Amino acid sequence: MDNSLILVRLEGRSYDIAINHDQASGLADFVRRRAPGHLAIVIADASVSGFAGLCAQVIAGAGLRIEMTTLSGQEGLKSLAQASALYDRLADWKADRQTLVVAIGGGVIGDLAGFVAATFARGIPFLIIPTTLLAMVDSSVGGKVAINHRRGKNLIGAFHQPVGVWIDLSVLDTLPDREYRCGLAEVVKYGAAIDAELFAYLESHVDALKARDLKSVAAVVNWCCRLKASVVERDERDTSGERAALNYGHTFAHAVETMSGYGSWRHGEAVAMGMECAAGLAQRMGLLAPGEMMTERQSRLLSGLDLPIRLPPMKADELIDVMASDKKAQSGAMRFVLPRRVGTVELTAQVSRNDLASVLRDKGATGSSGH
Ligand code: NAD
Ligand code: GLY
Repeated sequence: MDNSLILVRLEGRSYDIAINHDQASGLADFVRRRAPGHLAIVIADASVSGFAGLCAQVIAGAGLRIEMTTLSGQEGLKSLAQASALYDRLADWKADRQTLVVAIGGGVIGDLAGFVAATFARGIPFLIIPTTLLAMVDSSVGGKVAINHRRGKNLIGAFHQPVGVWIDLSVLDTLPDREYRCGLAEVVKYGAAIDAELFAYLESHVDALKARDLKSVAAVVNWCCRLKASVVERDERDTSGERAALNYGHTFAHAVETMSGYGSWRHGEAVAMGMECAAGLAQRMGLLAPGEMMTERQSRLLSGLDLPIRLPPMKADELIDVMASDKKAQSGAMRFVLPRRVGTVELTAQVSRNDLASVLRDKGATGSSGH
């Protein structure tokens, strides 16, 4: 595959996303050009410790002193306790504003290490080397960093752009199928919410994507990074409503994740269920363009990619209460990203609790009695 470089244009905070396959040697120059000082602190996911060790060696070869810590676990790592433990490590290693934090892992490590970098010494630079498909197509680009709070997913966070994103597709070889599928859920999100052409491409490449055909995977990673870069360039801090489109399905998804204690459902799986709820709600409210078969096409694509399209048996009322505390709620009113047609969504606060409860029950939630 051809290597590619995508620039995210954000004035003084611009950065490159480099996409390649098994080109670890290029990492030395990529990091050297972006490290302001002589110390790099690598925060890596233990599941990719071999790959992270190799990256650390290459970065050391670029003349940087390396300190490294590896973490095991998933969503539970995005906690204040874990952030605090990392602040201790950074202080022990005498990190300062010239120190580069290098996050190597999936969205969890990226969000956590990015949050620590955003807050330590009022903000130090960080670079991301994503190792899951989800992190490559979404979480490593755009500067949203966060930890969870028991009252809400990603409730404590910041906007802190990385100084660079280095994607090596070869690291996906060890990614378990379930995690790979979660990344595909975010890819479907881009198609359903902002790019009908991508959606159609996915419909015609289901088998190739499931087989992890490198050409198709590289195409979607490139496509999604370009889409994300252009959205972030226009609405970096999520204020104009444009970036909110990337939260299609997420109000529902975050409620499912919060209610399941950030354990049983992976983020991408919850996003798949959430997109189904959002499309169902749009249909019920008569928002969908006639004749496009949006709901049918989306369900077919998600099921074809082996993603869940039904909610677990959670209480509809409780899900709604959690949604009401979502970050996107304004003055207590819930706001939803709902589709109008494939590739087009809009942000709305005009949703009745009745419609919402009906759709949640249609999609598998239980009534308030729990049955
Ligand atoms: P994750 O980071 O938990 O990784 C999934 C699992 O795969 C973990 O068990 C990890 O150890 C393992 N793993 C990672 N890379 C591997 C590899 N190459 N080989 C083998 N195992 C590997 O989960 P994720 O799906 O990458 O990220 C989900 C998180 O991303 C959520 O917390 C979500 O909120 C966040 N997110 C953030 C943004 C953002 O804009 N900041 C966007 C989307 C999602
Ligand atoms: N994943 C949504 C965003 O970055 O805005």
